[in-house]
Amino acid sequence: MAENAFNIRVIGDPGLREPARPVSDEELGSESLRALIDELAEFMRSSQGLGIAAPQVGLKKRLVLMEVRDNPRYPKTPPLPLLALINPSLRPLTEQQERAFEGCLSIPNMRGPVWRTASIAVDFFDAEGQPRSFEFDGPFARIVQHELDHLDGILYFDRIKAEDLKDFGHERALQAAGVDLTLSRATPAAWRDLS
Ligand code: NI
Repeated sequence: MAENAFNIRVIGDPGLREPARPVSDEELGSESLRALIDELAEFMRSSQGLGIAAPQVGLKKRLVLMEVRDNPRYPKTPPLPLLALINPSLRPLTEQQERAFEGCLSIPNMRGPVWRTASIAVDFFDAEGQPRSFEFDGPFARIVQHELDHLDGILYFDRIKAEDLKDFGHERALQAAGVDLTLSRATPAAWRDLS
């Protein structure tokens, strides 16, 4: 079944550090790619992720999924329908940066503070192979930047500033210390479909 079809790669796995390849024109919108997206979405839900990038399960494709429903790991993040971002490219829309704690299925049980651009636009192809453009703000912009980094072999851990490394830690300890792990920031989570 879908839950068993994938294994999450964790930090230390060299595959997480390799750049992924673009999805080919032939594969875009294909039945097989859509089936893969469905399976990966199920896997993401069962893992309680808000997003997942194909390299996290050993697939070297420039494919990212995002979805926010009732998620016990991120209870205050508003809903986002399932989005498949294929061959995505990112444009910052502001110079404003925000600091918040991120987690990653590939760095289990840990969270760390990362500075990200507060507002971005993403051009991508959807599951049907259509070109799309979305804007994302706040926590959604953060998730997109985190997931797109995976396509280039970058983990959020790499982006923690030296002075913030002392705040990196196990989610249980951080929670006990009263650290806000909810992704709720000054810029509210929002998205707009520009396509
Ligand atoms: Ni991640």
